[in-house]
Amino acid sequence: MDSKFGMFQSDPDDTAGRPAVCPVSEVADSFDPFSAEYLHDPYRFFDKAREREPVFYSSELNYWVVLKYEDVTSVFRDPETFSPVNARHPVTPICPAAADVRDSLDLAIEPSLVDETAQTHKHHRKIFGTAFTPRRVNEMEEQIRAIVDRYIDRFIDDGEAELVSQLLYEVPALAIFLFLGASDEDAVFVKKLGSDRAIVNWGKPSEAEQLAMMHGMGEHWQFTKDLVDRAYENPGDNYLGDMVRIHQNDPTVFTINYLYNVMFLMQFAGHETTTQASANGIRHLLSDRSQWELLCSDPSLFDNAVEEILRMDTSIFGWRRIATRDTGIGGVDIPKGSRILLMMGSANHDEAVFPEGGKFDIKRSNAKKHLGLGLGAHFCMGAPLAKLEMRVILEQLARRLPGMRLKPGQSWEYLPTLVFRGVQKLEVEWDN
Ligand code: HEM
Repeated sequence: MDSKFGMFQSDPDDTAGRPAVCPVSEVADSFDPFSAEYLHDPYRFFDKAREREPVFYSSELNYWVVLKYEDVTSVFRDPETFSPVNARHPVTPICPAAADVRDSLDLAIEPSLVDETAQTHKHHRKIFGTAFTPRRVNEMEEQIRAIVDRYIDRFIDDGEAELVSQLLYEVPALAIFLFLGASDEDAVFVKKLGSDRAIVNWGKPSEAEQLAMMHGMGEHWQFTKDLVDRAYENPGDNYLGDMVRIHQNDPTVFTINYLYNVMFLMQFAGHETTTQASANGIRHLLSDRSQWELLCSDPSLFDNAVEEILRMDTSIFGWRRIATRDTGIGGVDIPKGSRILLMMGSANHDEAVFPEGGKFDIKRSNAKKHLGLGLGAHFCMGAPLAKLEMRVILEQLARRLPGMRLKPGQSWEYLPTLVFRGVQKLEVEWDN
């Protein structure tokens, strides 16, 4: 598979894995992943579909959709058979005008961690994952807390806030940039590219959206190269500095272009996800006020509340794989070349593992078993940082605004993408 542009190049062969005869399926017919109804509440569809046809083929997408916990985990656990090389391919083919822009840019994008084959992934994950140490993450806690407080200070006297734009949008970007040793202004510049990229790679973008995203891409790539090159001159006391020192000690362990690519990946993977998961979580906590009050009264529950948020309504609720050989999932034959859409959002509500799966319960004893951060060889490398950020955001809100409540009458809007999920606005108020 040609991987030169990986994430910005449509699948070279759109017919690969398409069954010769389309299986007739009522479930597939009712699967409309970009409809407003589904985006608003995909769990209703998941619950029914898991019962009736837990592995089904969507001819519209040309994906096999996998819904049960047991089946999703078995796919995650076998990256040789179910390769992630298509994880960042655009779901909607790139239009010719955007492809022209892409081809004119000086991008050297190559598969990096999340979409690498098992052969090279193991080697790279060992190096990049080992350096992602608990010390590097934990030492950021007080800095993240100070950032969160700075943002809360700006609106605490107002008696109301829109939490996504006023807190959750920028804080995770500032945190990941601190981790990589970049500045606050850089974080704001890069953040803007996040939602564009989510729609272009995982949604149904218009031509104008594709063009806008491609134009920003060259700038972002250049920014990433400059960031790494500057770190190479003067490696800081941060994760990027650590990776540079590893390369300076032995340049054969990975190429400098690979390092550009991982940093490019992390600037996206490291904040849009956390923004959206936090927004979903606060929405659930405030929708069932008894859960919020429980959390405010018992600090020992913060860690489990984060796990329960990632189970109940994670921000990456689907992820993709491709079958490298003829195989099967849950008793269904899956031919070589088949594209697979793992629905972790569905698996996380599977009653076989999570009784009353649709109920939000921050005391749930097995919340940690969720698949919101993946599983196995590609399990989210940033998980400790994401959880730390989410916990600190919740802690500061609970400490400083325990009386916070949802403004009545708001409707929930989501980005139209196949895998990302996060409320775009969250209006809250409190009495001063
Ligand atoms: C709540 C926030 C987050 C969610 C829901 C999330 C979710 C995921 C998921 C589902 C995967 C793919 C797992 C697989 O293919 O098995 C992944 C991979 C990854 N994530 Fe996250 N993530 C989050 C935050 C972060 C953060 C903060 C960072 C960086 C600091 C990060 C860096 C990565 C990387 C580098 C990979 C690729 C790992 C590999 O393939 O070896 N993520 N994440």
